[in-house]
Amino acid sequence: MSVVDRARRVLPGGSTRTTLFVPPHPPYAVRGEGAIVTDDTGHQVIDCNNNYTSLIHGHAHPEILDAATDAAQCGTAFGLPTHSEVALAEHLRDRTGIEQWRFCNSGTEAVLMLLRAARAHTGRDLIVRFEGSYHGTGDAVVSPTAPGVVPGSVLVLPQNDLGALTAAMREHGDRVAAVLIDLMPNRAGLIPADAGYVEALHDLTRQHGALLAIDEVITFRLREGGLHQVYGIQPDLVSVGKVIGGGFPVGAIGGSAEVLSPFVPAPGAVSWGGTFSANPVTMAAGLTALRLFGPAQITELNRRGDELRSRLRAEGVEVNGSGSLLRLRTADPTELWWSLYRRGVLAGTNGLLALSTAMTPAHLDQIAETVTAVLGRDGAGQQR
Ligand SMILES: Cc1ncc(COP(=O)(O)O)c(C=O)c1O
Repeated sequence: MSVVDRARRVLPGGSTRTTLFVPPHPPYAVRGEGAIVTDDTGHQVIDCNNNYTSLIHGHAHPEILDAATDAAQCGTAFGLPTHSEVALAEHLRDRTGIEQWRFCNSGTEAVLMLLRAARAHTGRDLIVRFEGSYHGTGDAVVSPTAPGVVPGSVLVLPQNDLGALTAAMREHGDRVAAVLIDLMPNRAGLIPADAGYVEALHDLTRQHGALLAIDEVITFRLREGGLHQVYGIQPDLVSVGKVIGGGFPVGAIGGSAEVLSPFVPAPGAVSWGGTFSANPVTMAAGLTALRLFGPAQITELNRRGDELRSRLRAEGVEVNGSGSLLRLRTADPTELWWSLYRRGVLAGTNGLLALSTAMTPAHLDQIAETVTAVLGRDGAGQQR
């Protein structure tokens, strides 16, 4: 029996993550080394998916592996805090200017914790978020009509529509705990938010006493302290994940001591556990990965992304994004995914390409040539 048949017997649809499913079934990875992934047929691809943007240094980076192994050898998880969470929180504070942090195991969980923090801090119930942005799978941030979802106090507005936001804040502003925004939402096409709109949004939250919450789970990699730094605004809360875990499960929220004070253990405080939250393996791997991704490395990776985007555009490829994150535009994402995969490039199932520091100029040339062959104006088209 094939592994896919075995999988379909024990996993609904044959796998665990909806986000990486491509019909009829994705291949199975068996090995990752630097920028290259090998599947169970021996086929090798340049990894432009990087576990949905999280592997900023590619696979099995020696220093990150050493840090994780050293930590694991001293125990993988404890019913006590460890020094490692203090060190990662200090690093995040120093690189972002955001005072305090709380760790968890995924971006989904970080967004849930962020919403809890906003509601607990303000004593208000309503969350404003924007259509098309993905913030994980919590009930408050997915379609209220999706199966199994219990709609909460959430107002979903079109992004970049200042009139709609102003009207909503005028009507409901005194109930709004937080406005949650992703400044370059991947699912909505990876188009950076308009600076004037973000400034106006910031001002509206100030006027109405609501918190400004920025989801940097994907965009954190674009600047030392996250993409919001480009906009010159100070968020009240941020959610992060992906790159800050060095390839291990992670999420975190950041905010001022005042905004995060509901979590300080005391009678009436928010109680939020997490058996594996801030485990020392993730903390050590994350700290090493971030130390290896300072301003010079960020600038260089973004430059490479900008160069790749220009090169693709010159060949007639429609591509959005900023810096090291690119999003190919296509009418048929599944066809695109397989066409790239068969030619040796692993993308996201929606055409997302996330660069890693493990990629060499030769890898980037190969990515450009492959994408051009599939989507360029003179390319072979998307035939499998
Ligand atoms: C902006 C954003 N927020 C939250 C999440 C959820 O993160 P996770 O998949 O780690 O739960 C994602 C995942 O892609 C994301 O892109």
